[in-house]
Amino acid sequence: MDVVDLILAILHHFLVFALAGLLAAELALIRPGLSGRNLGLVGRLDGAYGGVAMAVIVVGVCRVIFGLKGWEFYVSNHAFWGKMIAFVIVGLLSIKPTMRILTWRRSGADAVPDTEILAVRSWLKGEVFFLALVLVFAAAMARGFGA
Ligand code: HEM
Repeated sequence: MDVVDLILAILHHFLVFALAGLLAAELALIRPGLSGRNLGLVGRLDGAYGGVAMAVIVVGVCRVIFGLKGWEFYVSNHAFWGKMIAFVIVGLLSIKPTMRILTWRRSGADAVPDTEILAVRSWLKGEVFFLALVLVFAAAMARGFGA
């Protein structure tokens, strides 16, 4: 039993659920017809998404270093590295949507062109796919697969 490991595991789960929730909220809001007040909301959600992603990294690294299994368990595990690669891909896929959202907000336009909305939705769906892969690798790694 280890309280630090437990607290880090709880925080990690809170954060990854928050991340998934924010991504789902962005997908729900970013659809043809997006404008005005919802555009501001999307901007705030995207900022929170970035902040939560950073916190996931900090808590994740703490789990590797201070977790029960010890860092050696993870660095030699292929499922761990699969998870890291999938997570990095989620981060890379999120760059374009963030840049688009910033541009939309700065332009002050009343409505966003549908073609741009649909393009951003494709990037977001890509993030959903790789986030699901992160979960697959997480479950495998926690059970020693890929060792
Ligand atoms: C969005 C990104 C992430 C998601 C969705 C995620 C998801 C999860 C889940 C669901 C578990 C529990 C697995 C289980 O017990 O079945 C877990 C465990 C863990 N995660 Fe993450 N994680 C993410 C990012 C990270 C990062 C960036 C790191 C490290 C740099 C990390 C390190 C760990 C560690 C060390 C464990 C403990 C595994 C064990 O019990 O041995 N995670 N993660």
